Amino acid sequence: MAEKEMRTLSNGVNMPEIGFGTYLLDNLQARSCVGQALQDGYRLIDGAAFYGNETGVGQGIRDAMQSGVSREDLFVVSKVWKDSMGYELTMASFEKTLRELQLEYLDLYLIHWPSGDHELDRSSWQALIDLYKSGKARAIGVSNFKPEDLMPLFDMEIVPMVNQIMVYPGWKQDTVTSFCRQHGIQVMAWSPLGRGRVLNNHLLRQIAAAYGKSTAQICLRWEIQKGFVPVPKSVSPARIRENLDVFDFELTTGQMQAIDSLPPME
Ligand SMILES: NC(=O)c1ccc[n+]([C@@H]2O[C@H](COP(=O)([O-])OP(=O)(O)OC[C@H]3O[C@@H](n4cnc5c(N)ncnc54)[C@H](OP(=O)(O)O)[C@@H]3O)[C@@H](O)[C@H]2O)c1
Repeated sequence: MAEKEMRTLSNGVNMPEIGFGTYLLDNLQARSCVGQALQDGYRLIDGAAFYGNETGVGQGIRDAMQSGVSREDLFVVSKVWKDSMGYELTMASFEKTLRELQLEYLDLYLIHWPSGDHELDRSSWQALIDLYKSGKARAIGVSNFKPEDLMPLFDMEIVPMVNQIMVYPGWKQDTVTSFCRQHGIQVMAWSPLGRGRVLNNHLLRQIAAAYGKSTAQICLRWEIQKGFVPVPKSVSPARIRENLDVFDFELTTGQMQAIDSLPPME
């Protein structure tokens, strides 16, 4: 039987193996969905300055803390957006995120996208290194970085601990994920349900029926067994709960390989 575990990042920090995504939630939805997700047992919340809802995310976190969830058990993630690249702007964006969330520190801070300019990426990365060294971010990483975007950071004092990329069945990103594995970088999977585009796939439906699970749960289980950290998003209380209910079954090697072989689904 599968059990919920933690992923240990290269700096020794433990990260939950599934999280709740907050893209496309307005502030009110963010408050209620994050509050509910935390009550249901999620401990990782994936946010970003770009989502424009960090005030609501912070309120949802505080609601849960008032009901007994402790800050130390949470793993709060945010990201610096493209318009705030460079050392000073990255620092300012981080402080704005902390103010909006009303938190003292983040568990993980990411560069949301590579800028296309390695020097600019390096100067934002230096800001993240300094935030990490000051204790304001317990771990740091990047998002949507390919090997050629990651390599220019490798001669800096600290190497990214996480790379958050789009991964779902039929979009498994072998080149980036194996590069990350080789370099001890934990992969997080965004759009782990392919934003719904894979949920009617015949193979996934067959496997789901065999376990009495939904196709969404099969996607999440596949990502977890591949060692990724998926961050599904939902506004539906039932689906928020459903997406966390993936720890009472385990896909076989054959099923994992069959899902690995799915062609790209646009
Ligand atoms: N780093 C990046 O560049 C980046 C980019 C995109 C996303 N992300 C992160 O990844 C998170 C998730 O990605 P995403 O929101 O793009 O896509 P997703 O989680 O793959 O899919 C969300 C969609 O699937 C539906 N859904 C959720 N659970 C379901 C279930 N059990 N059964 C059927 N449908 C279900 C949702 O509808 P309902 O809401 O109606 O349930 C929504 O339409 C984001 O919220 C964000 O935190 C990061």
